Amino acid sequence: MDKFSLLLADLKANPQTWLVTGVAGFIGSNLLEALLKANQKVVGLDNFATGHQRNLDEVQEVVGPSRWQNFRFIQGDIRDKSLCEEAVKGVDRVLHQAALGSVPRSLNDPITSNEVNISGFLNMLVAAKDAGVKAFVYAASSSTYGDHPALPKVEENIGKPLSPYAVTKYVNELYADVFDRAYGFKAVGLRYFNVFGRRQDPDGAYAAVIPKWTAAMKRGEEVFVNGDGETSRDFCYIDNVIQANLLAATTALDKNEVFNVAVGDRTTLNQLFQAIKEALQEQGVGYSKKPVYRDFRAGDVRHSQADVSKAETLLGYAPQYRIFDGISLTMPWYVANVG
Ligand SMILES: NC(=O)c1ccc[n+]([C@@H]2O[C@H](COP(=O)([O-])OP(=O)(O)OC[C@H]3O[C@@H](n4cnc5c(N)ncnc54)[C@H](O)[C@@H]3O)[C@@H](O)[C@H]2O)c1
Repeated sequence: MDKFSLLLADLKANPQTWLVTGVAGFIGSNLLEALLKANQKVVGLDNFATGHQRNLDEVQEVVGPSRWQNFRFIQGDIRDKSLCEEAVKGVDRVLHQAALGSVPRSLNDPITSNEVNISGFLNMLVAAKDAGVKAFVYAASSSTYGDHPALPKVEENIGKPLSPYAVTKYVNELYADVFDRAYGFKAVGLRYFNVFGRRQDPDGAYAAVIPKWTAAMKRGEEVFVNGDGETSRDFCYIDNVIQANLLAATTALDKNEVFNVAVGDRTTLNQLFQAIKEALQEQGVGYSKKPVYRDFRAGDVRHSQADVSKAETLLGYAPQYRIFDGISLTMPWYVANVG
């Protein structure tokens, strides 16, 4: 058996209590589902800034009533320090996902991104340290590579941030690092690279490319490509991210660490357009329009591809889904849920 299957079996035999912040969001609700399916107890914290009650409702339906009893939801804001303290009480392991995502959002409103992503993060880190939790894993970001030109991206080589969002995620790493040096409190940062999958929000000004394009194709609307379509990313299916989180939260590490979480592939936006179109076609949804090319977007890096060998070596991470597997698995959800 691989390390992740062994871990799931062990968790089922020895249930623990987890805090998932951002639990009503895309990644948070998927972590909740995986943990409840593994018979864990979960406390969830979210203020519905970008998450939705419908995500929690869907998890409730998928896991069924007896497992759902193991979930306790706290509606609230990570900018509220006392609420963070309340949320970590009695918790073994924290998966901190709550943040305001999106580079363009942070360019339009850097102050709110800073407050949530930095002050809110610090509240959670302090609360977790003071409560003496066994593990603190947090959502870092590939945006921390900024203008560093090297490909693939290796954890220790980062450039200057290209957006306020990237600054906030880098500051998270700096705080996590100093909390180990100053207090001996170890945290694990997972630098996600373009995560996608079921429940990722297709709507709103700041939607990510895969849900946005999928919804546009399903609705017969135009698909806009920022730039020439040769921009590339290491798109990572949600189930790889779940695996990375659970491994990171349960693997003993000597010190504070950050890990790339992706696959190690590179896919251009033009290839992505074709892949989504074909996967939707397989679901009986045809799309005949050509993509509409427009200007490059401020703050975006041109190419991104992860070296995941550090996570493989230290965590036993073994991504099971490449982009096209993930796209095929994701499309039925959008076909069923996008009006
Ligand atoms: N999706 C990606 O490709 C990606 C890539 C890199 C990093 N990340 C990070 O992963 C995490 C999860 O992202 P996601 O894609 O699931 O986004 P999401 O917007 O679906 O989820 C974020 C959740 O955090 C909640 N939240 C926001 N502000 C909050 C606050 N002040 N208090 C409490 N809850 C709050 C939102 O309501 C939402 O439910 C974020 O930290 C994000 O920055 C995501």
